Amino acid sequence: MSAAPVLVLPSAGRFAEWVQLIEDYGGPESTELVGSGFHGNREPRVPVLTPDGYATWLAMLAEEADESVPPHPGRVKSSWFWVLDDDGAWVGFLALRRSLNPALLETGGHIGYSIRPSRRGEGLAGRALADALVEASAIGLERVLITCDEDNVPSARMIERNGGIYQDSHNGMRRYWAPTHR
Ligand SMILES: CC(C)(COP(=O)(O)OP(=O)(O)OC[C@H]1O[C@@H](n2cnc3c(N)ncnc32)[C@H](O)[C@@H]1OP(=O)(O)O)[C@@H](O)C(=O)NCCC(=O)NCCS
Repeated sequence: MSAAPVLVLPSAGRFAEWVQLIEDYGGPESTELVGSGFHGNREPRVPVLTPDGYATWLAMLAEEADESVPPHPGRVKSSWFWVLDDDGAWVGFLALRRSLNPALLETGGHIGYSIRPSRRGEGLAGRALADALVEASAIGLERVLITCDEDNVPSARMIERNGGIYQDSHNGMRRYWAPTHR
């Protein structure tokens, strides 16, 4: 059981740690930066590992979280979180989409997440997802769609452990609905 918060909001001042984190994923071109906001259909698409690149990324996340700014075409407003361990070390990313568009309903779902490769298998993603269900409840969602690749066994297990009910598979993705909770 953890008392420390697992999800925190993005913040300035962690540039050096961010560079190490991205390198742990294998570098900026990694396809596993799920929940970080990169590789989407708007800029910046990949991490630029400079202080300016860090600031630009934070600005992108802040803009997409700001309800007073209209969403980019094809995007929905989202909450962005960083996953921390009990010691406060940065171990991953989590995105909470506040609504679903047709593509998210089909495959993307409400929540995306990843844990840095060197820290997988410790239960951190499961804890982050549990906290994300509380965050989702706080913004008025009673249930969330969570999806994973058909062959992503760790992800499927943690979704099921967090109450996800398997609905069906679309385009190689398993789709689950999970009730949120306080
Ligand atoms: C999927 C991912 C987030 C899981 O993170 P994690 O912190 O290692 O997950 P957890 O430690 O909470 O483990 C989740 C479950 O998978 C199980 N698991 C972990 N590795 C496994 C493996 N190689 N094979 C089978 N089960 C495995 C764990 O035992 C756990 O199940 P349990 O709760 O029943 O014990 C991580 O692998 C990752 O970041 N992958 C790349 C990005 C990604 O795929 N994101 C998800 C998109 S849907």
